[in-house]
Amino acid sequence: MRQKILAGNWKMYKTRREARAFIDAFLPLIDPTLSGRTIVLCAPFTCLDILSEYTDSFAVGAQNVHWGKCGAFTGEIAPPMLTELGVQYAIVGHSERREYFNETDYSVNMRLRAAQEHGLIPILCVGESEQERAEGRTESKIAIQLEAGLQCVELDRLVIAYEPIWAIGTGLTCESSEANRIIGFIRSRIGNSQVPILYGGSVKPSNIDEIMARPEIDGALVGGASLEPESFAGIVNYQVAARL
Ligand code: PGA
Repeated sequence: MRQKILAGNWKMYKTRREARAFIDAFLPLIDPTLSGRTIVLCAPFTCLDILSEYTDSFAVGAQNVHWGKCGAFTGEIAPPMLTELGVQYAIVGHSERREYFNETDYSVNMRLRAAQEHGLIPILCVGESEQERAEGRTESKIAIQLEAGLQCVELDRLVIAYEPIWAIGTGLTCESSEANRIIGFIRSRIGNSQVPILYGGSVKPSNIDEIMARPEIDGALVGGASLEPESFAGIVNYQVAARL
């Protein structure tokens, strides 16, 4: 059985004070009777040490990681700086990084490899834009991202998130059947049945049960709905429904 992962991506939200308030409200809402689910919170760098105080309840993730151990790379963060804080995961190649900060498949690959070398589990994000989907290029775009991004990357310490760009922060969730189909496609491309593959894009408490009922989908990467304790708790406490 593949691991089930519910990961929040806070993006550039929450000061340290706000992070503490979130945790205080969130922890009592986690249903203690539910097992077999890994909760991850990917927070701004300034909150990571605070979140690391609670690794009994959830794992901590960064939102990016550089490929160097150290060096003259103003504004970047090195893997040992994260692992020293107890960080276990790092998102790599989020579409916002690719779009606004010129991340390429090449730099994504370097970051993935460095993350793994230092014991972090990278969460590789892939997905198509609205235009690529309209032009029938969804699969070819994702195939390229996987091919280039996963060069020399170990598949047994990796998480992938399928995040159609048009569904991120828009309220337009990809149909769960279509997300299931694309995730099946990703799984067949990588040729490994053990890699957890998540869906991301407007996941909310109201659609998580249906998403998790799909056999190919192993969890969710959640942006907006991870910012409020009640909504993220509604996601991590999803109800196991009959497989769709
Ligand atoms: P969203 O973001 O849940 O707000 O759509 C998802 C993401 O960017 O990972």
